[in-house]
Amino acid sequence: MSTYTFETIRVEAESPIAIVILNRPDKLNALNRMLISELTAAFSLLVEGGQTRVAILKGSGEKAFAAGADIAEMGQLSSVEARRFSEEGHHLGAILESAPFPVIAEVQGFALGGGCELALACDFIHAGVRAKFGQPEVNLGVIPGFGGTQRLARRVGIGLARELCFTGKIIDASEALRIGLVNAVHAQEDLSAKVMELAALIAAKGPLAVAAAKRVLLRGEDMALSAANALEIEAFGGLFGSGDQREGMAAFLAKRAATFTGT
Ligand code: COA
Repeated sequence: MSTYTFETIRVEAESPIAIVILNRPDKLNALNRMLISELTAAFSLLVEGGQTRVAILKGSGEKAFAAGADIAEMGQLSSVEARRFSEEGHHLGAILESAPFPVIAEVQGFALGGGCELALACDFIHAGVRAKFGQPEVNLGVIPGFGGTQRLARRVGIGLARELCFTGKIIDASEALRIGLVNAVHAQEDLSAKVMELAALIAAKGPLAVAAAKRVLLRGEDMALSAANALEIEAFGGLFGSGDQREGMAAFLAKRAATFTGT
């Protein structure tokens, strides 16, 4: 992975924590097709590599996580091409969601349009105090195309999602925290350290269990409660007999720290 070269992103794949950095700071990390394709490839490689227990997705530079899809590129798209672009963004979101490890969005500045949608496709968001969020696509005569209408509504509720999508207004980090769009807001200078601390905490847990929790929480959201509960029962039972389950419980009983191997 470390030898794999990308043009629009950087990947620091130090097992067990991978850091993926959107790297077009002069364009506020705007998401062009190459960046979407490279992010998709990078996360596919991390999944295939099997060494990653947590990934952090962040933007380079101080100003932006990502200020949206690349408007210069998008402005040239035909309807058919725009549909394809939207599908590519959705495919990336699905890869982030189906990855067997949590992906934390670290948002230090603007997360607008596709940037907000990308952060929403991560498991959760931690923000710096200067972060700003919004779905300003209506200003451009379009709507969110990378899952924003749906994931935003599921995260903050349909009323607030409607208001954000209809007005295109930008909200600050404290408002994002108040409505549950982000899990936590940190001092700007502490953000990366706090996110890394959280990633390390998760990376030390049983990876099969974390993956199962991620899967059940995600799939269950779209199910009737009874079906989602059945999914949980299956996943719970499925973890028994794994090396991690035996190690976790044996370590507790022996009053020592567990060492998980993901087997
Ligand atoms: N697509 C393409 N380029 C973008 C971009 C985007 N979504 N967002 C910013 N950029 C580019 C600017 O064109 C500019 O490039 P230039 O230096 O070659 O002219 C550079 O990034 C810096 O942006 P700039 O607008 O000068 O910074 P700012 O601090 O004045 O404003 C924003 C910051 C985020 C308020 C402003 O860039 C903006 O409104 N961006 C678009 C947000 C948006 O509508 N996103 C949804 C897209 S669907």
